[in-house]
Amino acid sequence: MLYDFDEILDRKGTDSVKEDGAKFLWHRDDLLPLWVADMDFRTASFIMDAIRSRCEHEVLGYSLHPEGWSDSVAAWLFRRHAWKVDSSWVGFVPGVVLGMAMGLRCFTSPGDKVMVQSPVYPPFFDLVKQSGRELVVNPLVLNNGLFNMDFDALRRDLKGCKVLMLCNPQNPGGRIWSREELRQLSDICEEYGVLVFSDEIHADMFLPGFRHNVFATVSDYAASHTITFLSASKAFNMPGLGSAYFVASDEKLRTQFTAFIESLHLQYGNVFAFIALMAAYTDAGEDWLNQMLNYVQRNVDYLDNRIQKSMSAIKVMRPQSSFLVFLDCRELGLSQENLVKLFVDKAHLALNDGATFGPGGEGFMRMNVASPSCFMVEALDRLQEALK
Ligand SMILES: Cc1ncc(COP(=O)(O)O)c(C=O)c1O
Repeated sequence: MLYDFDEILDRKGTDSVKEDGAKFLWHRDDLLPLWVADMDFRTASFIMDAIRSRCEHEVLGYSLHPEGWSDSVAAWLFRRHAWKVDSSWVGFVPGVVLGMAMGLRCFTSPGDKVMVQSPVYPPFFDLVKQSGRELVVNPLVLNNGLFNMDFDALRRDLKGCKVLMLCNPQNPGGRIWSREELRQLSDICEEYGVLVFSDEIHADMFLPGFRHNVFATVSDYAASHTITFLSASKAFNMPGLGSAYFVASDEKLRTQFTAFIESLHLQYGNVFAFIALMAAYTDAGEDWLNQMLNYVQRNVDYLDNRIQKSMSAIKVMRPQSSFLVFLDCRELGLSQENLVKLFVDKAHLALNDGATFGPGGEGFMRMNVASPSCFMVEALDRLQEALK
């Protein structure tokens, strides 16, 4: 089946954070919203059919995790990433961010040091600070337009940390960490006995020519000292369902974490969370996903070509995974405030302010390209006009 990603769906008035939330943040209602990381594409028909079919039984009572839910996760992780996961290693969490928030409370105490690598998805910073843990920021370095880890600085900064919160692939740069980089990282974690929360929510969306590397597979240490957080929500555009999961192969770690989640009564999930994942993690799901990624790649190519040709002071950080593009606008020579004004007030575009991703994000803006390609044309027309 061929899916139509050119279709334009009006999301206004659906209480969408991306569409309806833009006016609360920027106090304008004329912005083309290309910020929050969900897609403007229709959630796939086989997922909607599964939800509809459950709705036909008009009793939405308490439900169990369906038999086969964790088997479908394990089968998917093997087919998509060649990762051999036993279904008993998989546990439900209502969201990746919530999962990591619980992980911090379960495995660390107030005042413990937790490392994040910057720039990164903003809740990483908030989770550490809001739980009263000590934030250790390890800056990534830019090399040839790509973020890299500085292993000397890592070895220095990681000493004394209880947990490393890894973003794999990296958001906002869309960087897929290589197995070699992850192995080096694992060695340093082993040296200091650090536990790793690996946020792999973007893992399934490797773009043509790339493959994702699962951190927990790079060494024995990583396998036994990592909680990996994943979700079908991001890749299949259903984050509103509140459905994610963790994988932990180490029994002690898993038992402790499961008991913590149960102490908060957060293990249940809503009835659609499970049904939708099981519909997504199928042949049909993989086909939809690959078509969607080819479409996103064409949007990235268009963006990159057009910016190179006519807005060359901006550099496109080409993502290796997912649909988020970090735009390096430093050559424009604007303060961060004026850069945001250029995009919002002059170009009428809602993008994420690079500075919100922490140190190293200043001078950048993050653009979401999981939209019909005519949105990309419109966005670049507006930006080009504003730059004049
Ligand atoms: C790296 C990363 N982690 C987590 C999330 C959010 O996950 P959830 O909605 O499952 O909490 C996002 C959403 O953009 C993300 O980019």
